[in-house]
Amino acid sequence: MPRAVISGTGAYVPTRVLTNKELESVIDTTADWILSRTGISERRIALPDEATSDLSYFAAKQALENAKLLSTDIDAIIVATVTPDMLFPSTACIIQAKLGAKNAVAFDLSAACTGFVYGLQLAVQAIESGSWRHVLVVGAETLSRIVDWQDRNTCVLFGDGAGAAVVSADGKGPRILGVHLGADGTEGHVLTLPAGGSRLPASLETVNGRRHFVRMNGQEVYKFAVRIVDEACSQLLDKLGLNYEDVDFYIPHQANLRIIEGFAKRLKVPLAKIAVNLDRYGNMSGASIPVALHEFSERQPRAGDKVMLVGFGGGLTWGSCLLEWQVD
Ligand code: COA
Repeated sequence: MPRAVISGTGAYVPTRVLTNKELESVIDTTADWILSRTGISERRIALPDEATSDLSYFAAKQALENAKLLSTDIDAIIVATVTPDMLFPSTACIIQAKLGAKNAVAFDLSAACTGFVYGLQLAVQAIESGSWRHVLVVGAETLSRIVDWQDRNTCVLFGDGAGAAVVSADGKGPRILGVHLGADGTEGHVLTLPAGGSRLPASLETVNGRRHFVRMNGQEVYKFAVRIVDEACSQLLDKLGLNYEDVDFYIPHQANLRIIEGFAKRLKVPLAKIAVNLDRYGNMSGASIPVALHEFSERQPRAGDKVMLVGFGGGLTWGSCLLEWQVD
């Protein structure tokens, strides 16, 4: 059976930096409040002519280069996003055209902040079954387009960006040892974007009611996140017959530094063993994990390092994935 490896990663964030200080002149907040309650100092905002597929394209191109593959080698493109360029065609098809990846099937996946980990699971299963050899998994968002810039509870939290990974059958790169996914639709109401779909199509009423923006019950999402990060990791470790002591580094979804610090404290793991990029980028939803994974890969991990990716978010959804770096 072919074994799935991550043969290349890439990341791209827009050039425009929006600092906490600048937000003080947009809404009733302070730079200190944002930093102390979330750990976020600044975030990136897509330029007016940049859409999700544009950010994805740069991340995907870099992942292909690092994997030493041509776009025509790719069998499938999966884009995890809640901010597609449009409802259809899929952002994956738009990227397929931009890359000239003419041999790839292409589709989007909606699992919010867990989307990239969901995409990895699909890639692994297709590779292990022999259906595909190279799958491009992208996590990309332009959340600045769907946050309500009049709602201080949400607009300070999010940012734009894209990350990508090529998952290949065998070859060089970290091996994917396992993936564990979960969902609980009964709690989906705590994080939604109510209008613009078939339930509440766009109308003057939905626009005037500001219903095309993210709505979140922050405290409920926070409680869910704190519980599920541990569960998602420990269930995967159980499945693989491993323990927390076997994990060398964690790449969690970047929602709030306090969630990450709580996790570090419970596990008695130093913060240095946990990826943190939300200070620079905020919460980029589906892009947070692949961007942090790319940054981690650039630091040239040691052979044998085991790295846990763990995501959680809207749906509600969650997922974990364990990687092991290989000897070259
Ligand atoms: N600036 C200043 N004050 C703000 C503010 C802002 N940007 N946003 C909220 N506040 C206020 C609230 O209005 C509230 O005021 P009140 O007590 O007068 O009503 C006060 O700060 C405390 O709000 P609270 O919701 O208790 O803050 P918190 O410590 O729970 O932090 C979040 C709020 C959103 C940062 C936190 O709940 C969180 O991170 N939740 C998870 C969000 C998340 O991860 N979402 C994505 C999931 S993938």
